[in-house]
Parts: sequence; C-alpha cells; structure tokens
Amino acid sequence: MMVLPSHNSFHHCCQILLALLLFSLQILTHIEAYGLKVEVLPGFEGPLPFQLETGYVGLGETDDDMQVFYYFVKSENNPKKDPLMLWLTGGPGCSSFSGLVSQIGPFEFENKEYDGSVPSLVSRPQSWTKLCNIIFVDLPLGTGFSYAKNLTAHRSDWKLVHHAHQFLRKWLIDHPEFLSNEFYFGGDSYSGIPVPAIVQEISNGNEKGLQPFINLQGYLLGNPVTTNREDNDQIQYAHGMGLISDELYASLQKNCKGEYIDVDSRNEVCLRDLQSFDECLSRIDQYHILDPYCKDDSPLWRRSLTRELKESLSSHLTAPGLSCRTYGFYLTTKWANDKRVRKALHIREGTIRKWTRCYRTDFEFEIFGSVEFHASLSKKGYRSLIYSGDHDLAVPFMSTQAWIRTLNYSIVDDWRPWFVNGQVGGYTRTYSNQMTFATVKGSGHTATLYTPEQCFPMFTKWISKLPL
Ligand SMILES: *[C@@H]1O[C@H](CO)[C@@H](O)[C@H](O)[C@H]1NC(C)=O
Ligand SMILES: *[C@@H]1O[C@H](CO)[C@@H](O)[C@H](O)[C@H]1NC(C)=O
Repeated sequence: MMVLPSHNSFHHCCQILLALLLFSLQILTHIEAYGLKVEVLPGFEGPLPFQLETGYVGLGETDDDMQVFYYFVKSENNPKKDPLMLWLTGGPGCSSFSGLVSQIGPFEFENKEYDGSVPSLVSRPQSWTKLCNIIFVDLPLGTGFSYAKNLTAHRSDWKLVHHAHQFLRKWLIDHPEFLSNEFYFGGDSYSGIPVPAIVQEISNGNEKGLQPFINLQGYLLGNPVTTNREDNDQIQYAHGMGLISDELYASLQKNCKGEYIDVDSRNEVCLRDLQSFDECLSRIDQYHILDPYCKDDSPLWRRSLTRELKESLSSHLTAPGLSCRTYGFYLTTKWANDKRVRKALHIREGTIRKWTRCYRTDFEFEIFGSVEFHASLSKKGYRSLIYSGDHDLAVPFMSTQAWIRTLNYSIVDDWRPWFVNGQVGGYTRTYSNQMTFATVKGSGHTATLYTPEQCFPMFTKWISKLPL
C-alpha cells in the first residue's frame, strides 16, 4: 500500500539546506527573485490590508521565452503554518485573476457602472486567503499576463500540466519559506481536466526524488469537467428542475436512447426532440439556471458544454447589463488594461498588448477525461474535495456524483446536509478514499462566485480537516 510521503524532520532539514544552497546560488549569479511586492492597487483605497506579490517564473531556455505570470496572496492568518494552494482557473485559458477577483481572493470589484475611471475594488470578507496562502497562476501560456515567444508551440493540455508542475517547483525554490507548508491544488470548471493530471505529476515527481520535495496533501475541484460527457446529463437535469415537460423527457429518452451528444443525423425524431429541448432552454443561463439571462453570457447556446464554455467565457469587450454576473468580467477587462494597474502589478511593458479574461487561440485538447487520475490519486491517499453548485446546468451535480461512484470506494459518512449558520448549505458524502463530495445549495457553475457565504465555511472546514 502506498501512503502519503510523511514529512519527517530529516527531510525537512534537507529541504532547508537545499533551499539555502539555491538561495545563495541565486545571489551569486545575480538572478533576480521572481516576485515583487504590491503595496497599493489602483481602485483600492489605501494600502492593501493583505500581502500581495506578483511576478513571472521563466520556464524556457532564454529569458524572453515562456514567462508564467502569477499573483500570490499570503494568508492573513499565519502564513508560515497555513496551507499553500495553487489555483488554476478553467477555460482553458481564463486568467486566474478571475479566480482572485471574482471568486476567492481578498478583493472584488464594487458592482458600479463603469464611468471611465479605474473600477473600484473593495475587500471580500470571505476570502480564502484568510487562512490559506494562495498562488493564482496564469496558465496555459498566453493566458492573462503570461507570454511566450511562440505561443502555438506551448498550448495543449499536457503542456499545461508540465508547465504548472515546473512552475510550482521553480516558485518554491524561489520561496523556500513555503516548502514545509501543506500543499493543495485547486480549480474549477475546465480545471477538472488538467488539475488531477498535474497533481499526479507532482506526486510522481516526489516519488522520483525531484527537488524540491512538494508537501502535497490533496486537491479540490468545483463543478469540474471530468468525463467530457457531462452534457449528456443536461437533459435529465433540466427535467428534474422543471425546465422541460415530462412528455418531452420521456420522448427524448425513447427516441435518443440516452445519447444526446453524438446523435445519428438520420435519427430525425431524436433531433426534433432536441430542438424542442433547445427552445425550452434558449433563454436560461446555463451557469446558474436562476440567474437573469444575459445575451453576452451564452451567445451560442448548444448542448455541447465544453465547446460552449470555449465560446461564451471569452473576453467581455462590450458592456453587459449591470444586473448580469458578467458585468464583473467587463470591469475586470477594463481594470487589467489600465496603464496604472499594469504598473502597480509590475507587468513587463510590451509583453501583452490587450489583456483578455479568456484567451482561446490554438489550444490543443489532449486529455478527454480525468477519472483515471482520480482513481490513481485515491490509491495514494490524497485528500480531495469535489463540490457542485447545484443550479449549474453546464456540469450538473449528478454527472459528478456518477463518476465518483465509478471509483468504487465505500461511503464512510453518508449523504447528509451540511450547515451554515443553522441553514442547509448543501449536502455532503465522504468516501473511504478521503474524497468528500458536497453540493452547494442554490449555487452555480463557479460556486464561489455565486455563494461565497456558503463556500467559505465549506472550504474552512475542509482545509482544517474537519467534516463539513
Ligand atoms: C511555432 O511553433 C509551431 C508549433 O510547434 C511551429 O510549427 C512554428 O513553426 C513555430 N513558429 C516559429 C516562428 O518558430
Ligand atoms: C469499479 O467496479 C466496476 C465493476 O466491478 C469495474 O468495472 C470498474 O473497473 C471499477 N472501477 C475502478 C476505478 O476500479
């Protein structure tokens, strides 16, 4: 049986020696440290009440090739002892600044109409950085402020996996004070595909003796794309939520025989039913079925989720309505393209002309499912939290439960509500592979965006190794 590499003091001692050695090497060779402190941010009043560092980690042979940009926020509690997490926003190709500003970071945009000045930022009380050190990384290359000489050569699932792994080891060499912290990987949406593969690669690296050793404990994923067959469950979900009639549902089941993605073009009755389905859902926001429908959000409604995500999460250049969730994305784009902001973030001039929230060009999809990685990581004993906003149509909660079931682990804490201030925050179940599944009641695709007041306590309990 394999167990988590324990973190004994001998190992720790070696790590410190190694870190010191690498540190002195850096001084000797005059290599600049990667990160720089950010003390003030345009739009945020006064000095930042938390510690923010931004910087680049070079992965290429030469300085002008493969520069990975990151934002690092230190825990506001006890950075020396609190866990370290690397957060990867989905897409693929959506900047992790989205994760920071729209989901789990220490500040967010004030929802105010854009008036041409720098959009205002306010503190987020439910920031996960209250108890965790978080690195938000812009990957794959081309995402956010990360750049490379030849982008097309560096954009695929496996390259993303290798780059994230290399980035992490290099970042830790540059930040040896975090080598002993417990390490977790986090992400949501499309990150359900690369993150389990990255965690697997980190684990393999540790086993092979790669330095520095990473104190890997586990991972967490929200509404993760996992089987690439999630769209197929949208029919069942829409029926359960009262978006289509019982009769249409029965007809779809009978005519399509459970296959709603790869439909035989000669199966006219199934195609007709699917057209009725599309009509019923054409003005439903697929990321949160109760949200107002905003035209910008889903310009091309199709059942095929992963292709859909690629279309609709793109840059927000024209203003959506203020009542739309996507208004925040619009503000993000305005903010990140402001000269003063770029200066404050220490962005290298001339590297990125226009910042887009999601960069989509030339990405090669190579990993079509991640269940095998979950299975392998389960055997190694890593902890995991898989959560589902239960009003998400894009990756419905039952799809997630279905693949978790196929891992064949026994239940150690069966389906029950979890609570926030005496109210049901969602439902949870834990398996013997240390995998906790949780729904987030009333939440959408990127659950932390919609219901921070539920997600924060959920995260706090899980990261503290307490039952939800
Ligand atoms: C960029 O990379 C692609 C893919 O590897 C390659 O086909 C192309 O020739 C490269 N372009 C340049 C200018 O080097
Ligand atoms: C789970 O059990 C089923 C049925 O016995 C088997 O086909 C499947 O391969 C198992 N899955 C894993 C991940 O071991």
